Amino acid sequence: MRQPSLRQPALRQPALQNRAATGAAGAVIAGIMALHRQPSVDLMTPILEFLQRRNSAPRLTDPAPSAAQLRAIIGAALRVPDHAWLRPWRFITIAGERRAALGELMVQRLQQTDPDADPAMCRKMREAPLRAPLLIVVVVRLTEHPKVPPIEQRLSAGCAAHAMLLAAEACGYAGIWRTGAAAYDRDLMAQLGLAENEEITGFVYLGTRAGPAKNLPRLDTADFVSSW
Ligand SMILES: Cc1cc2nc3c(=O)[nH]c(=O)nc-3n(C[C@H](O)[C@H](O)[C@H](O)COP(=O)(O)O)c2cc1C
Repeated sequence: MRQPSLRQPALRQPALQNRAATGAAGAVIAGIMALHRQPSVDLMTPILEFLQRRNSAPRLTDPAPSAAQLRAIIGAALRVPDHAWLRPWRFITIAGERRAALGELMVQRLQQTDPDADPAMCRKMREAPLRAPLLIVVVVRLTEHPKVPPIEQRLSAGCAAHAMLLAAEACGYAGIWRTGAAAYDRDLMAQLGLAENEEITGFVYLGTRAGPAKNLPRLDTADFVSSW
């Protein structure tokens, strides 16, 4: 069947009129929907702009992505580059009261590893997971492979974290990738159910941006590129 032209407004308007898909996110969704029908330079522009404007949000509040949106966000993570299709990642969601449980766990570990931790440090640690309504622990499962060294598996998991941030923004939410001592603490990893060959790549905090987005730094691509 002949696909309709991208230039027909009928193709683009429904997505843009969707109240859940406004602004940059709406433009991206419209672009992606249209791209599935027929590639167009016109529609690449909002997607490229979106990619160049992604930014983290340190302060996040309710609402979190819905279950359906979360599936789409994880779905984006499942499409990252992955040498030999090892699927070296998995994701643990922590929401609601479980965030407080994670905070308690983090304080426990802080007190065990740093006897000098003062009450202010403990309070900050306890409250850390409450900074967003939804946390996703990105876990990398390292396996031996003749062609895929551990670094490639870790990089793939890093791509998954980034893909989730992008997908969350595309759904109209925001997020931030955090690590800190907890992410490298074997005991804490065990308590989260990680096996010995697994590591935490990061905690992806997701929710609704609280406050305005920061001014983005102006970086010149020329400063980061050379030809050889
Ligand atoms: C591997 C990794 C770990 C990070 N850990 C933290 C962290 O623990 N705390 C934090 O505030 N930012 C952390 N960041 C940085 C933020 O995710 C974010 O990139 C930074 O605030 C800059 O904002 P931007 O992404 O909008 O440029 C980490 C980034 C990466 C890639």
